[in-house]
Amino acid sequence: MKKVVVLIGSGSIGQAIARRVGAGQHVVLGDLKIENANAAAKIFEDAGFETSTVAVDISSRESILNLIEHAQKFGAVNNLINAAGVSPSQAPVSAILKVDLYGTAVLLEEFGKIISDGGSGVVISSQSGHRLGALSEEQNTKLATTPTEELLNLPFLKEISDTLKAYQYSKRCNVLRVMYEATRWGKRGATINSISPGIIITPLAADELKGPRGEGYRKMLKASPAGRAGTPDEVGDLAEFLMSSRGRFINGADFLIDGGTTASYWYGDLQYLKKTH
Ligand SMILES: NC(=O)c1ccc[n+]([C@@H]2O[C@H](COP(=O)([O-])OP(=O)(O)OC[C@H]3O[C@@H](n4cnc5c(N)ncnc54)[C@H](O)[C@@H]3O)[C@@H](O)[C@H]2O)c1
Repeated sequence: MKKVVVLIGSGSIGQAIARRVGAGQHVVLGDLKIENANAAAKIFEDAGFETSTVAVDISSRESILNLIEHAQKFGAVNNLINAAGVSPSQAPVSAILKVDLYGTAVLLEEFGKIISDGGSGVVISSQSGHRLGALSEEQNTKLATTPTEELLNLPFLKEISDTLKAYQYSKRCNVLRVMYEATRWGKRGATINSISPGIIITPLAADELKGPRGEGYRKMLKASPAGRAGTPDEVGDLAEFLMSSRGRFINGADFLIDGGTTASYWYGDLQYLKKTH
């Protein structure tokens, strides 16, 4: 039996992370679209990794439990990477909340029951969660601790009518949920953290930059402190550190990796975006 890494969301960011932590372990590549997982598996197998693929929908607890059953056939689950998600331009409010907010919460809950001693996980949140103004302490506590099956009934989530807000609340919830789960994962000797990336060049982001909203994005990136977008490998490097032996004192934390864009959104040249975001 090997140790097992489970990646959900086999896109570029997830792959960059799994490549850094997967050597010598069995890498389970999960995705809603099995063809995405299979495409990633081909790249991984050609690079010497041992993989298997599985179709999974994180908005379904049953599907998550199937994924866990699949993973445990190969050994104890040592790493969880959640890079699955839908963006504001891809899905309606209800789907964003069901996948990004509820799905991530269930995933953390279920993997928190089986993660191995010394294991670790990362959840890919987003800079978007850092663009939402401060919530009340009560709202924070509700997002962090409400039992998963009651989460989507929270009155302030039911009021959301635009997809960007749904995405921002979901990503804020990911960070809070990670804090809550860190207290449980820690009891098993494991850590769980979140990473909030800015714009990272993936096939989807590259299309956006060339598409009708591309000019706005290019202007924003040019005015940001880094003056450019990030790469999946930069996110991978951060995640690798968090999951390595050097990151064992880091638990329940969130890491912005956005080239300073959030800082500029609140206090610098990008404040003009507050009118539209
Ligand atoms: N690319 C960026 O600029 C950026 C910035 C900040 C945050 N993120 C976040 O990073 C994560 C990965 O994004 P990416 O850019 O690699 O996108 P991507 O579209 O390449 O990868 C996401 C993957 O998740 C899968 N997926 C969607 N819904 C799912 C579900 N219900 N169950 C299982 N899998 C599902 C998709 O099929 C896709 O393969 C997302 O959570 C996204 O919100 C991306």
